[in-house]
Amino acid sequence: MNSQIKNAARDLAAADRVTALTGAGISVESGIPPFRGKGGLWEKIDPMEYAHIDAFMKDPAKVWQVLIREMKDVVDRARPNAAHQGLARLETMGILKTIITQNVDGLHQLAGNTDVIEFHGSFAWQRCMNCDGRIETRRVSLVDMPPKCLCGGILRPECVFFGEMISLDHMSRSRLAASSCDIMLVVGTSATVQPAAYMPIIAKRAGARIIEINSERTPLTRDVSDLFIEGKAGNIFDCLLMEIEKLR
Ligand code: APR
Repeated sequence: MNSQIKNAARDLAAADRVTALTGAGISVESGIPPFRGKGGLWEKIDPMEYAHIDAFMKDPAKVWQVLIREMKDVVDRARPNAAHQGLARLETMGILKTIITQNVDGLHQLAGNTDVIEFHGSFAWQRCMNCDGRIETRRVSLVDMPPKCLCGGILRPECVFFGEMISLDHMSRSRLAASSCDIMLVVGTSATVQPAAYMPIIAKRAGARIIEINSERTPLTRDVSDLFIEGKAGNIFDCLLMEIEKLR
């Protein structure tokens, strides 16, 4: 067993106020591609052309056709993997309190976590831009593009596009969860998109230990992370949980 995993297990077993910050990498083993890096979505399509609010307002049919339709297909099929389940188990054990996730796939809630801040919103629901009515994404028909509400208004996902603000409520709850934890577990994020990438800095300044799990090094790895465990999140969580269970 990797000594980093043993050290992380020892720290986590003794903690009772852990916050996790997760990103697309935690859902890769559930079949959802990441945004950056090899096989990333932004390698195939230009985010400024398909994921910016201005692009959506200009041509919603195009954004639905290329980006949202594909996301719907992938997210509909995805199921939590060992990393999501590991975080749910840490909550049951009374170790993990809050997850701040940049993901919009709902997999943390499906795995059983109860305090999940969806920092970039949720893909589970679509909202009508005319009447504000909501419909579950899985019930949206893709026959006509862009999909519309019964009132004729265009539907949009309840997640933030580039160029949109993070909700103030998500922002303040996340800052609180970051500044009041004793350990922040940072899993599968490239830590390049602000303000989410700032949460580990807030945690560190408030005295928390930062444990990072990623298949590659990130801008946090050298100066911010106290412990870096390199590898696939699912495998690492399997070993980590086995080790923590032995210690408690
Ligand atoms: N296990 C652990 N880490 C992984 C795995 C894996 N199996 N696969 C990939 N990774 C890591 C990559 O090394 C990378 O650092 O996950 C990270 C994914 O980074 P991004 O694709 O940039 O995802 P994220 O950090 O969540 O992006 C932030 O950018 O475009 C936006 O709104 C989108 O919420 C997203 C935000």
